Amino acid sequence: MAASAPAVKPGARAIRHGSLWIPPPGMRFCGGGTLSSSEYVASADRDAGWLVRECGVTEESTVLDIGCGSGRLAIGLLGTCPALRGYWGVDVHAVSVKWCLRWITKYHPPFKFCLTGFQNDRYNPDGTTIDSEVQLPFRDELFDVIFLYSVFTHMIRRHVVRYLQEIRRMLKPGGKAMFTVYLGGHGKTDQAGGDLYRVRHTGEFLRESIAHAGLRMEKARPCAGREFADQTAVLAERT
Ligand SMILES: C[S@@+](CC[C@H](N)C(=O)[O-])C[C@H]1O[C@@H](n2cnc3c(N)ncnc32)[C@H](O)[C@@H]1O
Repeated sequence: MAASAPAVKPGARAIRHGSLWIPPPGMRFCGGGTLSSSEYVASADRDAGWLVRECGVTEESTVLDIGCGSGRLAIGLLGTCPALRGYWGVDVHAVSVKWCLRWITKYHPPFKFCLTGFQNDRYNPDGTTIDSEVQLPFRDELFDVIFLYSVFTHMIRRHVVRYLQEIRRMLKPGGKAMFTVYLGGHGKTDQAGGDLYRVRHTGEFLRESIAHAGLRMEKARPCAGREFADQTAVLAERT
């Protein structure tokens, strides 16, 4: 992806970066607010590279990005795999989804986004409850790859369990799921950052929930080279 100097204007709703629009610092997640635009795009390219190298994404793939935020992965995929067959981003955070529709889908229609009204104490406190019946708005076996960067890090255990079941339902047989987590606590949060900030999950809880959902865990590795590198990336397959 080209890395020309962005035209940053105070209060800008989007910043031009090469051929793409990217969110202004105040709208970026995962430490993006403190990164330069080039560093932010590099982080997006890196995650897209993970999907290509570790999940086997090609231009024939259909990808779901749960908790897409302000489109960081989509920005990476537009640089890495611009002719991707299908991309859907889904999130509970209305402002972010609106931004993605306005600045990504408008110029790249195969990259689609949708808002779910689900409740999250941090991002959508007044949303609808996630119970054991709740479904994300996609049909069975639609996706080759499902990605969640720093999303289970903001969700309670019961919700993670349900989402893993939903991930299994939406993946094609042989499809891959990759998600990042903070390991090492029983749903413990870092209260310094407010509600549901840096929620930790134990390896035991994750292994059991992955197996219970009907997924096979392939590997877990450190997110080396990423901001918040103390997260672990987990790769699982739908058998
Ligand atoms: C730290 S941000 C990460 C955003 C994006 N994945 C990235 O890497 O830039 C966490 C995101 O998860 C979303 N989120 C939290 N709970 C969710 C849920 N139950 N369903 C979908 N998205 C959720 C939040 O709204 C937020 O956009």
